[in-house]
Amino acid sequence: MKVVVIGATGLLGQALMREWRGDEVVGLSSRDVDIRDAGRVREVVANLRPEWIVLSAAYTDVDGCESHQELAVAVNRDGAVNVAQAAKEVGAKLVFLSSDYVFDGKKNSPYEAGDARNPQSVYGRSKAEAEVRLLEVLPQCCIARTSWLFGAGGKCFPDTILKLAASRPALDVVNDQHGCPTYSLDLARGIIELCRRNASGIVHATNAGSCSWFEFARGIVNAAGLTTEVRPVSTQQMPRPARRPAYSVLSPKSLEQWGIAMPTWQDALRRYLQERKS
Ligand SMILES: NC(=O)c1ccc[n+]([C@@H]2O[C@H](COP(=O)([O-])OP(=O)(O)OC[C@H]3O[C@@H](n4cnc5c(N)ncnc54)[C@H](OP(=O)(O)O)[C@@H]3O)[C@@H](O)[C@H]2O)c1
Repeated sequence: MKVVVIGATGLLGQALMREWRGDEVVGLSSRDVDIRDAGRVREVVANLRPEWIVLSAAYTDVDGCESHQELAVAVNRDGAVNVAQAAKEVGAKLVFLSSDYVFDGKKNSPYEAGDARNPQSVYGRSKAEAEVRLLEVLPQCCIARTSWLFGAGGKCFPDTILKLAASRPALDVVNDQHGCPTYSLDLARGIIELCRRNASGIVHATNAGSCSWFEFARGIVNAAGLTTEVRPVSTQQMPRPARRPAYSVLSPKSLEQWGIAMPTWQDALRRYLQERKS
């Protein structure tokens, strides 16, 4: 099959380009196609005529979105609609990457795919609105929500923690936000499987298990064999421009319905740290 990955230079995009074998895969960056430009999107998609489009491109700076709301909406919502419309014109199927930040975090059990959206940030709202619009344009599209992405080829939490741990005796990390860390390579494999199984609808795709950022940081420091102290603090003690959900653990049930299971985040972290060394 022929596949186009839009956002191929991002964290997930690079993993998709690395992992996808046996199909013809074309990767595009913002220099190849700016998804805000509907005409250009239509032209590129019409020329390539893919069977699947994976839309991984987004404005992903969650705090930056708060001060650049127009850009967040233009890329994350309107850009996604442009891609869906172009996909529809050529009969291509679409996987759209969305986020745990479409939820408000008020639950205390894992979010199911059908739970109500109630985003608390500009980024979350731009993704939630994209989901709604995409399901109108392409009712058969697949919306893959993921969370707390880490991996090679971009900025990510484990890298930041390891850098700080190397230069400080102690680190303060928030302990009142819970989610599912997700390794870009595992997510890429999951997305590829979703395409092969002709998936549609909303799917939650993360590594298995959950933790707080503090627990994740402690896991990173321990796995790297460092002695840096990691101290739990509250979100209030570390204010950020964008509000994050206190609890955004995504249930794996929707992914399991497609016969796909992802490894635990601890296993994923161990493999990522190994990958970093080599
Ligand atoms: N990172 C996370 O923790 C996380 C969590 C939940 C959901 N997600 C979602 O998962 C997806 C992948 O995230 P990621 O971390 O891999 O993203 P990323 O590393 O920030 O990469 C973003 C990608 O989008 C492209 N892009 C940005 N603006 C564009 C535009 N206007 N037109 C076309 N391409 C554009 C970038 O291209 P250039 O390199 O050319 O700029 C890059 O390839 C995103 O949809 C994101 O919202 C991520």
